[in-house]
Amino acid sequence: MDRTLLITGASSGIGAACARLAAAPGQHLLLHYGRNREGAEAVAKDARAKGATVTLLQADVGDATEIARLGAEMAEAADPALPLHLINNAGIVDQRASLADLTAERLTRMFAVNTVGAILVAQAAVALMRRGAGGQIVNVSSTAARKGMGGEYVDYAASKAAIDCFTIGLADELAAEGIRVNAVRPGLIETEIHAKGGQPERLDSIGHTPPLGRPGSTEEVAEVILWLLSDSASYVTRTVVDVAGGR
Ligand code: NAI
Repeated sequence: MDRTLLITGASSGIGAACARLAAAPGQHLLLHYGRNREGAEAVAKDARAKGATVTLLQADVGDATEIARLGAEMAEAADPALPLHLINNAGIVDQRASLADLTAERLTRMFAVNTVGAILVAQAAVALMRRGAGGQIVNVSSTAARKGMGGEYVDYAASKAAIDCFTIGLADELAAEGIRVNAVRPGLIETEIHAKGGQPERLDSIGHTPPLGRPGSTEEVAEVILWLLSDSASYVTRTVVDVAGGR
């Protein structure tokens, strides 16, 4: 099916895997990135080699002004005659910290990127879906939203729990327009996010703990996301799917 597919945070990890897996003729990829232009270009090259068309879009999704600019660029790049699918994936974690160590600055940034940013990107995308051709949304949450992550990342967990709730509410709001809204909760997935959060050893130390006995790959998460966006999931909305090896 021809479509425009907007992926935020597409330069690495789960977002990059979604882009590479979706890439095919008829797929018009809008690959958003924050700072990693090189990573985004590498993903774009792979996607074009598989027959997709690609537009790169840059914005800090922790900044509402930049998201407004991103929305205008999306409007220009997306063909109004095609459905728009959104993978709302960009996100951050921070250093392991307990309550006493959380600063207002850290909390503000965490929620600006993971929660406010995701909601504003969805708002911009839905405005384009309403030009006529409709669309679908998958938000990327985390199993942290269920676990709370006490003593580690309660702020990250809370920012993702908000995404679970947003998914349910937005699904209700948009169902009558045929726009399905779902989310995935990845568990321990092999990406750089652990190192970015100051724990490069995280997968080595606890990657074996899910019942399936190993961490997940980015492709395993991408498969579920792309299925949720597909017509095969046409009766699935308002659902949050764990992709977490059983935990
Ligand atoms: P990643 O660090 O490779 O991907 C995150 C992407 O978001 C990067 O491309 C990054 O550039 C982008 N990003 C972050 N802040 C941004 C900002 N302010 N503006 C623009 N772009 C920004 O890591 P990963 O693991 O692929 O993360 C993707 C999503 O999956 C995130 O939302 C993360 O919270 C979630 N997740 C990951 C898990 C894991 O174990 N890897 C587990 C649960 C959830």
